[in-house]
Amino acid sequence: MIKRSILAVLCTLALLPAAADEGMWLPSLIAPRIKDMRAKGFRLTAEDIYSVNRASMKDAVVLFGGGCTGELVSAEGLLLTNHHCGYGAIQRHSGIGHDYLTDGFWARSREEELPNEGLWVRFLVRMDDVTERLSAGETAQEIIAEATDGGRYKAAVERMYYGNQSFLFVYEQYDDVRLVAAPPSSIGNFGSDTDNWIWPRHTGDFSVFRIYADRDNRPAKYSPDNVPYRPKRYFPVSTKGVREGDFTMIYGFPGNTQQFVTADAVNYVQNISDPAKIDIRTKRLAIIKAAQQSDPALRIHYAAQHAGVANAWKKWQGEVLGLSRRGTADKKRDYERRFTEWAAGTQYQDVTAELREEHLRIIPVYFAREILNETLRALPIPYSARALEHPLFERCIPTEQALFRMMFAEYERHIGSSEYAVGEFRRGVERYGSAEAYADRIFELARTDAVNEEIKTLVDGIADNEAALRKELGTAALRNLNSARLDELYARYLRGLREFDRKRAFFPDANLTLRVAYGTVAGYEYADGEYHKPQTTLAGILAKDNPEVYDYNVPQRLRDICAAGDYGRWGVEIDGRKTVPVCFLATNHTTGGNSGSPIINGRGEIIGINFDRTWRSTMSDLEFDPAICRNISVDIRYVLFIIDKVGGAGYLIDEMDLR
Ligand code: ARG
Ligand code: GLU
Repeated sequence: MIKRSILAVLCTLALLPAAADEGMWLPSLIAPRIKDMRAKGFRLTAEDIYSVNRASMKDAVVLFGGGCTGELVSAEGLLLTNHHCGYGAIQRHSGIGHDYLTDGFWARSREEELPNEGLWVRFLVRMDDVTERLSAGETAQEIIAEATDGGRYKAAVERMYYGNQSFLFVYEQYDDVRLVAAPPSSIGNFGSDTDNWIWPRHTGDFSVFRIYADRDNRPAKYSPDNVPYRPKRYFPVSTKGVREGDFTMIYGFPGNTQQFVTADAVNYVQNISDPAKIDIRTKRLAIIKAAQQSDPALRIHYAAQHAGVANAWKKWQGEVLGLSRRGTADKKRDYERRFTEWAAGTQYQDVTAELREEHLRIIPVYFAREILNETLRALPIPYSARALEHPLFERCIPTEQALFRMMFAEYERHIGSSEYAVGEFRRGVERYGSAEAYADRIFELARTDAVNEEIKTLVDGIADNEAALRKELGTAALRNLNSARLDELYARYLRGLREFDRKRAFFPDANLTLRVAYGTVAGYEYADGEYHKPQTTLAGILAKDNPEVYDYNVPQRLRDICAAGDYGRWGVEIDGRKTVPVCFLATNHTTGGNSGSPIINGRGEIIGINFDRTWRSTMSDLEFDPAICRNISVDIRYVLFIIDKVGGAGYLIDEMDLR
């Protein structure tokens, strides 16, 4: 009886949302977090995570191709990342008779590993706080020039906390990165856009590469003489699996968050920017989808564009839902009110009012820029010769023209009467009578007469408009609602926050620099009375299987394996049934760029590869809400199972250090 109630208490505790798993910490400053990490199950030290004196986990993590993360898993330079991160490379090697995107790719020997021009990975050599050097008068250029060591390294000075602190990052870049393996898209992109940002998830979102180096293990351009890179450190692979409540850590390169923005900025995102962009993309997707459904060749032709447009489109919808349901703007408004009360009589007393005033000033400017990017700048004005020579171009004309009409009409509707509109666009609409008529004219020229004066004037007009908007905002750093003045005000506001909110553990916004996030494996309450478990299995893949639906057409090989129960050493018992785990949820704070990041257990072994977040939890770019914010990883056991049983590439597993 007593035993059972203790168990019940423990179970309830395990189901509670883990407190305060918010944070993307700078690895060199992780020491103060270690106590909390250890309490959650971490068994290693700060030096194991980041060290300049000896090999540490940071030496096993790379920035992969400028937008994703990858990790080393063997002494011979074997690297894991997501399928959607390797997609471009896989696609470029695909053709008739060797369609690796559809069928998968498994190099049977080192000789079969495929080089990829332009694909690079970067290791972080070290990071240093250079705030004082900068305030002593050194310039970022000088600091960078010194750090590159005559061209051996890449270096960058990155501003944190709106410039209150700055760090030098020194990287070593390897340029010979070869494709080793990829599952068929029906595994690597299973569920595709339908399941994207959604839980329960069953995507085997992984691909395998290998880094090559010269004979001295140094970076080198591709050469057949290059040899597999010998990393300072690589991750052992855990085959023990994960359970709800287990410690998890993510090491990777998150791209962009805006944690510190005020309620006005949240309102802008939630009520102005996201809804307008969602609406434009809904129309854009409808046009693309109609073409795809009318013609199987066009389905493939527009697949990449559809996936790209749909990804942010769906993310923004989840973000709006998350922000509105969780009341982020109200919470922030309240926080700012308390801050302002506290700030009376200090140097911070006016800062929230000034922030508000500047937000109101720049919202129309920034909005004009965003809509320009979503509409006119998203169109090929003019088409490239390559696009025009494409054998399918003729068949695309009605679709392309419809896209021009729709985008011109949307730009006109949102920005046409704003003082920040492209002048030449307004003149064109007047000359031809409507946005649609003007679109028809420009479309005709864009595909037939690239050097025409009218095309050139519009293209120049768009460029001039952009430059004017940038000038108005006073800054080129425009990934988020921002201006030079806002940057200054936020820097001051953050200095105030540190005095006001002394209990808060501050971490800088993501900016594609290396970060550590940690938390636990955890489900969440999806809706009233509806708990989402943190783990999916092969059973869910079979339940979704439908040969009629492209996104859910399970490859026959996988069906056969399941029918025969042929799971090999990867089968585990879950709820009394033999199966293979596929994906799992955890409370790690992640964002775009964390794709491909290793998810690591308390002993520093890889347990999965991060690839997504649940829909509403994408609000965590503005506010991390521990009750709902979850990242999605593919279980490393599913990766191994697919490599072994579908790829027949057990020799890759032999290279790894399985625990
Ligand atoms: N949502 C994930 C990430 O932003 C995966 C995107 C790729 N998958 C897809 N179905 N489009 O960016
Ligand atoms: N799929 C995203 C990426 O490509 C990660 C998902 C997220 O935004 O958390 O980085």
